[in-house]
Amino acid sequence: MATTNVPVHAGLFKPYLTDFKGKFLGITQQQFFNNEAKMMTQVEGNVSPISQWYDMMTQMFPDKRLTFLNYGYLEEDSNFDWINEEDLEQKCSANLIRTLLGDADLRGKKILEIGSGRGGNCSYLARYTGAASVTGLDFCPAHIEFCDRVHRLDGLSFIYGDAMALQFADEEFDVVINIESSHSYPDLNRFGEEVRRVLKKEGLFFYADTMKGANNSAMSEQDRIGVDFFTNVLEQHQAMILHASFNVEDHLDISEGVVRAFESEQGHLKHLLKTLVTEKKQQNSSLPPEVCHAFDTMFHFFDDSGVKAYKNGHLVYKLWRLKKSA
Ligand SMILES: C[S@@+](CC[C@H](N)C(=O)[O-])C[C@H]1O[C@@H](n2cnc3c(N)ncnc32)[C@H](O)[C@@H]1O
Repeated sequence: MATTNVPVHAGLFKPYLTDFKGKFLGITQQQFFNNEAKMMTQVEGNVSPISQWYDMMTQMFPDKRLTFLNYGYLEEDSNFDWINEEDLEQKCSANLIRTLLGDADLRGKKILEIGSGRGGNCSYLARYTGAASVTGLDFCPAHIEFCDRVHRLDGLSFIYGDAMALQFADEEFDVVINIESSHSYPDLNRFGEEVRRVLKKEGLFFYADTMKGANNSAMSEQDRIGVDFFTNVLEQHQAMILHASFNVEDHLDISEGVVRAFESEQGHLKHLLKTLVTEKKQQNSSLPPEVCHAFDTMFHFFDDSGVKAYKNGHLVYKLWRLKKSA
């Protein structure tokens, strides 16, 4: 299959879906550009290529130091006097969920994270907030296996499932969290309905993701790397919030703090990923060339094209604090 060097980015591990995963999973670049890969998450019995990609990456990088998969957040004067030493290597990501939660008091609450990845947020919630229980749900089986192995804490559990068809009873949770996952959902409104259904009355929904910004001017091929995948727009997220009748308590653009995290000298996901890739190479473990290329494009996004895109408004990072009405 002929591939170009224009990678596709579906969040963290996806800038290289075109070159590598396309070959690996037999899907074409065009299918990704047309978002047909997203559509596949809806088809029963047909495993999503996104989930397969995460599966493969988790099998290739089972290291328990990597528990967050989000872009992170830093304020100009962020201080980390609240953080445990063991979380310093991922402090930007821990700071993102901390910022999203604001001053919410989660003591004694029953919390669900949808799209919980490698469990960093759930572990944070269990260790820092005094929550009664935390459940992480993800549609990538390797993530669930990873979390069961790595995060062993009272009240914390992980379960396989789909964001658009939650297996929980109505009004089961006090709080729902969703971070950097919804941009790949084929049906945001269905997701919103499900969040509303499983939340108790007056339950809280903390929601954060990247989307296309207001600037839709043309970009060079280099500047599009990792940026093009985000086809979701603000109006779709707003429509979901309206559709599910959530009350908006807060709505913030945190792009500047996300860029500050990209530009930080330590404690960002990109530093840990660079360390893991270097270690892998030093162990003489052969990484397929497509995977090496994939990491190169991801690092290009963190170091260059992603920074530019948030700064010039091609991308925007939003968070919402939402409430289900009584
Ligand atoms: C970029 S990762 C973010 C993980 C985590 N929220 C964090 O902040 O570290 C996105 C996660 O969403 C999951 N995901 C994507 N689509 C999903 C779906 N339809 N249902 C459940 N999980 C999904 C992926 O498997 C992946 O683990």
